[in-house]
Amino acid sequence: MSMEKAAAVLRRAQYPLFLSGAGISAESGVPTFRGTRGAKVGGAMEGLAADRGIDGLWNNYRAEDLATPEAFARDPHLVWGWYNWRKRLIASTQPNAAHFAIHRIAQKLPNLLCATQNVDGLHTLAGLESILEMHGNIYRTRCTQCQSLAIIRDDVTPTTQCGNCQSANLRPDIVWFGEQLPRAVLDSIYARLAVCDAILVVGTSGSVYPAAGFAIEVRRREGVVIEINVEDGHKPYAHDIYLRGKAGEILPQIADLV
Ligand code: OAD
Repeated sequence: MSMEKAAAVLRRAQYPLFLSGAGISAESGVPTFRGTRGAKVGGAMEGLAADRGIDGLWNNYRAEDLATPEAFARDPHLVWGWYNWRKRLIASTQPNAAHFAIHRIAQKLPNLLCATQNVDGLHTLAGLESILEMHGNIYRTRCTQCQSLAIIRDDVTPTTQCGNCQSANLRPDIVWFGEQLPRAVLDSIYARLAVCDAILVVGTSGSVYPAAGFAIEVRRREGVVIEINVEDGHKPYAHDIYLRGKAGEILPQIADLV
């Protein structure tokens, strides 16, 4: 019933917004950052990740301790080590039923604006043509010397040279805590939020802003908040329709109904 309600709301919405978090990739085997299974970067082993022998080393760290400019300045080997580990792990995964379902929903609802906090690129791999990557992309590096961007699938170290200026000043092109999100991405999302009448939030703990504020904004404007998550958790916003369960099981059903 709620599933039909959710599909009907999305179908009728004029300016729908979709937001995903790490939970949507959990069933692909990408570890989440938070959730019942642990608060540490290598610890939240939902879904297949549990079978992948997640490297216990990373259980000693929180995302907030590694994903910061200060952490990188203090110990670039450690931070690159974490990103190399994550990149290798992500490269071994595939989009799951939830990623494919969102692609299907977007095909049925051409006005759906899709945004993700994930850096794994799995939405694109599932065929979604337009996805706003709010936090960057794990395969992309940025040279802090000449600002050029590059896709590097192999491991990167503090001595890896920039292909453009040859200096060794690469950093992950990922938004760290305390940094600004890409302006163009934010502008698109805020333009949508100004008129948004329904938001579908999937697999996020709602603990990192600005994404955590999107549903608050939609509710303030009396839009509908639809939430899919395996656990209710403590969110800074209320939802109108809550679908408890795995994204990979719920989203395909919604895609059928939309
Ligand atoms: P979190 O790890 O904080 O939250 C993951 C959420 O997914 C939790 O609420 C889980 O209950 C839920 N979940 C787990 N498995 C699920 C499944 N199969 N189906 C549905 N839900 C499921 O991830 P985010 O909220 O995305 O930033 O974290 C936000 C940001 O914090 C990340 O983008 C990252 C991190 O620091 C950066 O790295 C810059």
